[in-house]
Amino acid sequence: MFHDELRSSASGGGVSTTAVSNGGGRSRGFLRGWQIPNTFFNIKIMILCGFVTILVLLGTISIGNLGSSSAESVNQSLIKETVPPILAEIPSDSHSTELAEPPIAEIITSSNTTYTLGPRITNWDSQRKVWLSKNPEFPSIVNGKARILLLTGSSPGPCEKPIGDYYLLKSVKNKIDYCRLHGIEIVYNMAHLDEELSGYWTKLPMIRKLMLSHPEVEWIWWMDSDAMFTDILFEIPLSRYEKHNLVIHGYPDLLFNQKSWIALNTGIFLLRNCQWSLDLLDAWAPMGPKGPIRDEAGKILTAYLKGRPAFEADDQSALIYLLLSQKDKWIDKVYVENQYYLHGFWEGLVDRYEEMIEKYHPGLGDERWPFVTHFVGCKPCGKYADYAVDRCFKSMERAFNFADNQVLKLYGFSHRGLLSPNVKRIRNETVSPLEAVDKFDIRRMHAETKP
Ligand SMILES: *[C@@H]1O[C@H](CO)[C@@H](O)[C@H](O)[C@H]1NC(C)=O
Ligand SMILES: *[C@@H]1O[C@H](CO)[C@@H](O)[C@H](O)[C@H]1NC(C)=O
Repeated sequence: MFHDELRSSASGGGVSTTAVSNGGGRSRGFLRGWQIPNTFFNIKIMILCGFVTILVLLGTISIGNLGSSSAESVNQSLIKETVPPILAEIPSDSHSTELAEPPIAEIITSSNTTYTLGPRITNWDSQRKVWLSKNPEFPSIVNGKARILLLTGSSPGPCEKPIGDYYLLKSVKNKIDYCRLHGIEIVYNMAHLDEELSGYWTKLPMIRKLMLSHPEVEWIWWMDSDAMFTDILFEIPLSRYEKHNLVIHGYPDLLFNQKSWIALNTGIFLLRNCQWSLDLLDAWAPMGPKGPIRDEAGKILTAYLKGRPAFEADDQSALIYLLLSQKDKWIDKVYVENQYYLHGFWEGLVDRYEEMIEKYHPGLGDERWPFVTHFVGCKPCGKYADYAVDRCFKSMERAFNFADNQVLKLYGFSHRGLLSPNVKRIRNETVSPLEAVDKFDIRRMHAETKP
């Protein structure tokens, strides 16, 4: 992810086990100082604004296929639910000016076209099928495994500080290791493919471009640059997702019951290369163009989603909004995964690595040995982080070394400690080195034989 602009994961992506148990999300503390007499007036205005803007957006950028009557009742109940968090998140002043601003319909139609990612493709599944049959040397399944391409990237320019680039390098080294050991292809993108979709939206045009350019790839796996693999042995249980097209870490209760803006984390997800996914990207993107559309869409998302602070539309909120507002259309093909850490919020994991080493072993992928540790809110490449810089970099160093030890084991080395870039030998050279290969090569460990 492009850290400097990352907010979706930054403030909200961090669903830790503790965050979930208290309803998800960190309180931003705006509630203090709220004056009672203002409350009713503002609630009224909020309900009005939220209701009008949601309906207008539904109609204008064709987000909604809901019948208008059901849309109304859905929206009304949602607004009722979301009023408390809105009051909690937004300073009281921000609403009194809201009615004076031009309505969202004007803003979106003034741009005259609904934003699209490209020419609308409607028969991708059959195009791809024909291509695959004509190009047997590029099979979508290799050695019985669906072909996966991991996509990650960072901004075209340097980080704010050199240490940011150092940790981007470590993070990509970590991903290269994981991909190499599991036969996954990897793409690191540094180009802005679409000026309109900057920041956390950049992944959308990139994913679409890769799907269309690599028909042999079955799954595109997006992973933020601030996430690292910390279980080098664990493999995504692809067979579980045979009937699904989007695999994303999240919590169904936070999503469906609480409509929380951190119910899913779009920092890491897998999307199948198929027509459904192209359609999803087409429906997802129109809130992304920077400027007035993104700003206005942000207001709608804040009104709709629990716990969301007021800021421009981000890809994570937009996806949650889309899946909830058009549930019938999408949800059957979405696998909300939380049986292992496809996204593992770093706080609460990084300090437990020693305990994990003592009690457990790689290959578990869950809280015992997290598959991914994601440094949400650290923004290692950017200017402003939600957490102390030192703590973030120290934690990233620990995660990197924790993972790297699993890689170095084959070669007979280990880091001197989780904070040390230096290594020590963990076994002596022998005249029969293949014994170590048989014992330690991750590539040769099949799921059944993994510890
Ligand atoms: C909007 O697009 C239409 C057709 O492409 C064009 O005729 C019209 O002048 C445009 N309006 C504005 C305000 O740009
Ligand atoms: C390697 O061999 C030396 C000498 O035999 C021994 O002292 C040392 O403990 C061995 N190191 C390891 C890691 O086994």
